[in-house]
Amino acid sequence: MDFGAQYAQLIARRVREAQVYSEVVAHTVPVSELLAREPAAIVLSGGPASVYAHGARRVDPALFEAGVPVLGICYGFQAMADALGGRVARTGTREYGRTDLQLLDGGGVLHRELPARGPVWMSHGDAVTAAPEGFVVTARSAGAPVAAFEDTGRRLAGVQYHPEVVHSPHGQEVLRRFLHEIAGIRPSWTTANVIDETVSAIQAQTHGGRLICGLSGGVDSAVAAALVHRAVGDALTCVFVDHGLLRSGERAQVERDYVAATGVKLVTIDARERFLSALAGVADPEQKRKIIGNEFINVFQKATEELLAEERQNGSGEHSGYRFLAQGTLYPDVIESVAIGGNPAHLIKSHHNVGGLPERMHFELVEPVRELFKDEVRQAGLQLGLPKEIVYRQPFPGPGLAVRILGEVTPERLRIVREADTIVQSEMEASDWYYRVWQSFAVLLPVQTVGVMGDQRTYDYTVALRVVESQDGMTADWVRLPHELLARISNRIVNEVKGVNKIVYDISTKPPSTIEWE
Ligand code: XMP
Repeated sequence: MDFGAQYAQLIARRVREAQVYSEVVAHTVPVSELLAREPAAIVLSGGPASVYAHGARRVDPALFEAGVPVLGICYGFQAMADALGGRVARTGTREYGRTDLQLLDGGGVLHRELPARGPVWMSHGDAVTAAPEGFVVTARSAGAPVAAFEDTGRRLAGVQYHPEVVHSPHGQEVLRRFLHEIAGIRPSWTTANVIDETVSAIQAQTHGGRLICGLSGGVDSAVAAALVHRAVGDALTCVFVDHGLLRSGERAQVERDYVAATGVKLVTIDARERFLSALAGVADPEQKRKIIGNEFINVFQKATEELLAEERQNGSGEHSGYRFLAQGTLYPDVIESVAIGGNPAHLIKSHHNVGGLPERMHFELVEPVRELFKDEVRQAGLQLGLPKEIVYRQPFPGPGLAVRILGEVTPERLRIVREADTIVQSEMEASDWYYRVWQSFAVLLPVQTVGVMGDQRTYDYTVALRVVESQDGMTADWVRLPHELLARISNRIVNEVKGVNKIVYDISTKPPSTIEWE
């Protein structure tokens, strides 16, 4: 249950790492509704509020009376103490960051045999000063006289610190013990089970109907399609639209490597001319994005119609057309976020995916990875035998290189940014940096500057390098790449890519900047 925590998704992921399926629900969901879903256990997240603040999100005591195991974390721990008759007070000692935790009474089930003293990650102003009746206090810290408690009879427990973050070294073990030992849940959420269950669910949903799936080259749609293929075989047709805004080698990766790994039926649509002429003369970033999104839907729609016509001609007559559209929607896109003061980054650019397709074409959606986090999608991809280059590929925006060419997209500018991008990727891979960063790419700036090459004056373009680290793309920091690597990339681009005489490195964070330049 999410109380507006910075870490709600992280908690859900950690629970899954303990091989227990988890979902995030908003704290606004009534307890009766929550219990009707028959959870095996409930975790109450942290949150920005004080239990005493006006309008604080208190927990309905009914939650603790249903016999469902509950773990409270940080704010959830205090709300639990408050609801069950313990005391929460402003102690005057605030603890933020690394804090020394001291176990009491052997640490209880949650901390049994863990070091008697050790660091945990705290972030609190208020503290629990008295545990509710029936609870054993199992840890304390300088600022929290009650830093953990448990009542194993009622299967209720709580910790003031954040077990979900890596800065609490034994945090995962503590979560695991709550789930497996206190709550008694059997760890069964494994990649193999996920694949089997998803395959059955797809078969049940589509029973014999035909599906179409747009491949983007990215991991989400690749895994979604591979799962569907495993479930329904040739009832699936994959469509890959080459809009001419791809990086070099990308089309081959899908047409050759992906098809070889999965055996899916693939139709590639070469729409390069069409996209380029629709984009001719357009410099405004939002307009470019809209044109690409619309063209994409048009091309996709036409492709399906042609596929159908072809099959009718071949006399395979009796089928019901393509009723289903498979998409690679991920769980983080589905979670109803209650982030307080959250980052509205997703509203800043009109992101392109195949979102408009289902309405326009009356498809029913099949979303095989809708319940999965990115790392789980990757695990499934590996297990399904997809190439590592696809499974661990960096994110690439739907509108492709068009948003990495500032201003108008022309064939010449595409050539420049594509060649520069190839150099960036090959140097990142050669130096082992590629898989350590979120994204690394080149941006072509419509700025020409004076340079000198072999005694000749040049007046050429500037390329910006953007290399960022990020957890989810919502916030990002620029990567402190070794200067030698930057030097090599810079040298190679200037020497090998005709039309470029200057390289700059983007050292801005998101926010206030964004990752892509458009
Ligand atoms: P920004 O530039 O908004 O990007 O900081 C955040 C992340 O999203 C990617 N991105 C897109 N992905 N369609 C996508 O599928 C899009 O239209 C799109 N625009 C940006 C970007 O590469 C980064 O990882």
